[in-house]
Amino acid sequence: MIQQQLAPAKINLSLHVTGRRADGYHLLQSLVVFADFGDTLRVELADQMALNVTGPMAAGVPMDHRNLAWRAAALFARPASISLEKHLPAEAGIGGGSADAAAVIRAMTNLTGTPTDLTAQAQLGADVPVCVLGQAAVMQGIGEQIQPIANCPSFHAVMVNPGARLSTPSVFSALQRPDNPAMTDLPQTRDPAVWLDWLRNARNDLQAPAIALAPVIATCLDVIADGPGCLLGRMSGSGATCFGLYANAQQAAAAADDIASAHPDWWVRACQFNAAPCGPS
Ligand code: C5P
Repeated sequence: MIQQQLAPAKINLSLHVTGRRADGYHLLQSLVVFADFGDTLRVELADQMALNVTGPMAAGVPMDHRNLAWRAAALFARPASISLEKHLPAEAGIGGGSADAAAVIRAMTNLTGTPTDLTAQAQLGADVPVCVLGQAAVMQGIGEQIQPIANCPSFHAVMVNPGARLSTPSVFSALQRPDNPAMTDLPQTRDPAVWLDWLRNARNDLQAPAIALAPVIATCLDVIADGPGCLLGRMSGSGATCFGLYANAQQAAAAADDIASAHPDWWVRACQFNAAPCGPS
């Protein structure tokens, strides 16, 4: 039996860094949603581990134990054969490897009937547990505390990666201070206008250090914010992918066309950020 799973892009609509632990890890509060666009994985039980990577973003992606998808399969007692069709840019603040690992965990749980625990998932990467859940959630601690958010609306959006590759540790190292104000209480309604107001008052505390390392991110955010119909522009995760939110799919598609025409070397995708759980693609 083959399990097919979408590994959707993970978007941090907000990301507040509120402290730093003695071991150097940072305490986070982040509202996370998932795009209706991502990598595709096909997983089946096999006699030995195998990983094959194809797709438009496959260049440079390792096909062995260095790949998080491989390490996720190794959490289970049975070997697996994995085909990964890579559409998401790597080291881009939108989950990438974590989303792939989570999709493998979902597939292998279905195939073997064996669950994995959150600690094992988090050891693969701080974003893996929330990606396994695959629906709107607030992530706290260092990523291991996850609360699903039932009343988060979906958003029409554009994701834009201006090409800079940033490693997560280098962005955390460039952060000026770890003790930033916490997120305020989430809206109790599903009204997108109320959520947009809430989001405008939220932040991504990694945006400024990421811009210090890769100034093109500031240009990218200006291009998104200055385009017609943009309701909010922000960077996701530790960058460099930024996003814009729009009132409808037509405006998001038009913005994506404009940005892609003006910046043909940037990665640009119109999409929807979903609040509901993701399933097989
Ligand atoms: O777990 P992940 O691979 O996403 O983390 C990469 C690096 O980012 C960590 O080794 C650490 O330097 C930094 N990080 C952090 N605090 C977090 C998550 C990541 O300092 N909560």
